[in-house]
Amino acid sequence: MNPDLGKLQPYPFERLAALFNGVTPPESVRTIALHIGEPAHPAPQTVMDTLWAHRDGFSKYPKTAGEPWLRDAMAAWLRRRYGLSAQDLEASTGVLPVNGSREALFSFTQAVVSRASEQACVAMPNPFYQIYEGAALLAGATPLYLPECAGRPGLPDIAAVTDADWQGCQLLFVCSPANPSGAVLDIDDWRALLRLADTHGFVIASDECYSELYPDESAPPMGVLSACKALGREGFRNCVAFHSLSKRSSLPGLRSGMVSGDASLLKEFLLYRTYHGCAMPLPHQHASAAAWSDETHVIANRELYRRKFAAVTTELRDCLDMRIPEGGFYLWPRVEGDDTVFARELWRREGVSVLPGSFLGREGRTGNPGSGRVRIALVGGFDETVEAARRIRRFVTSTWNQSPR
Ligand SMILES: Cc1ncc(COP(=O)(O)O)c(C=O)c1O
Repeated sequence: MNPDLGKLQPYPFERLAALFNGVTPPESVRTIALHIGEPAHPAPQTVMDTLWAHRDGFSKYPKTAGEPWLRDAMAAWLRRRYGLSAQDLEASTGVLPVNGSREALFSFTQAVVSRASEQACVAMPNPFYQIYEGAALLAGATPLYLPECAGRPGLPDIAAVTDADWQGCQLLFVCSPANPSGAVLDIDDWRALLRLADTHGFVIASDECYSELYPDESAPPMGVLSACKALGREGFRNCVAFHSLSKRSSLPGLRSGMVSGDASLLKEFLLYRTYHGCAMPLPHQHASAAAWSDETHVIANRELYRRKFAAVTTELRDCLDMRIPEGGFYLWPRVEGDDTVFARELWRREGVSVLPGSFLGREGRTGNPGSGRVRIALVGGFDETVEAARRIRRFVTSTWNQSPR
């Protein structure tokens, strides 16, 4: 077997299952899952109708590059969203469909990392989406966990990384809005990141799967493509963005996303994917084109998250240290104590599952930056989410704050 498999860490949900093993919530309560970022909002009807209307397509092999009309729909969305022109981003060379951003983050890493260098490393924020680490390890690289910015939880403190550390870096993952903190990179962050990429010659993989979930309709988060444009860079050199319909359109099961940016990187990535064997089924391509072409359901989706954030933070504001994130659908509060004990006891007493923050981070110079926090995913329906917040409040005020630590 591939010896690198032995380097993989147990996935956070496996660790959560082990933590909850033998712990039973009261029989009287219906359990509520807030540990996983799986949107449970209804799927857009137009997309479902399109999928059904094109079901005959399952009898054909799809092309790895996707159909031209899908790439057109994706490129059109990227141009509208990030203020790009047709010259900035060409549908035929600047975008590729993928089966969800997860597999793309993984496979892109395999395509980019050169094993010729013994020092190959892949940099990532800490805490982070676990695929970055697994992808790095299976590409034969060493993960470089970036320290967290003191005043901006969830964002990497790149100034604290030495030139020597960047030397072996071949690929840098960034995530904005970030999982789990919801923090968003601004133009100054991008300027600094792009300067580093130019200096050290690494590729930036910008995970933007939460890009369409944000509180202020007039202030959508910047992405790597719009940052490149704003900074006057041509051709998105060494930059690619990962987008997904899972969160934007509440379609996690469709497994549909896209990778866009540097055409020369996408050309190599397409070559890799041809052998990887991961073409998107034709009916999914039709459904995806319909989803990328419609913004009405996305606006309604954001509004539902906004209502949930408002209700939940009203409920929890005075008992947990937290704030509404700049993007995404997670709360990332401090819990003043051991996050694993908090999660386990909340499950035992109230039947609400949240993810211990330490499961999403790795030990760094100042410990594990996820410790002492939990990730709460506001992915359920409104009433269920508010009910979960009431139970968390009851747990914190009547049990957690009373227990000796
Ligand atoms: C930061 C981040 N990136 C990527 C993904 C993968 O999403 P998908 O494969 O559904 O597009 C997730 C899923 O939760 C995520 O949290």
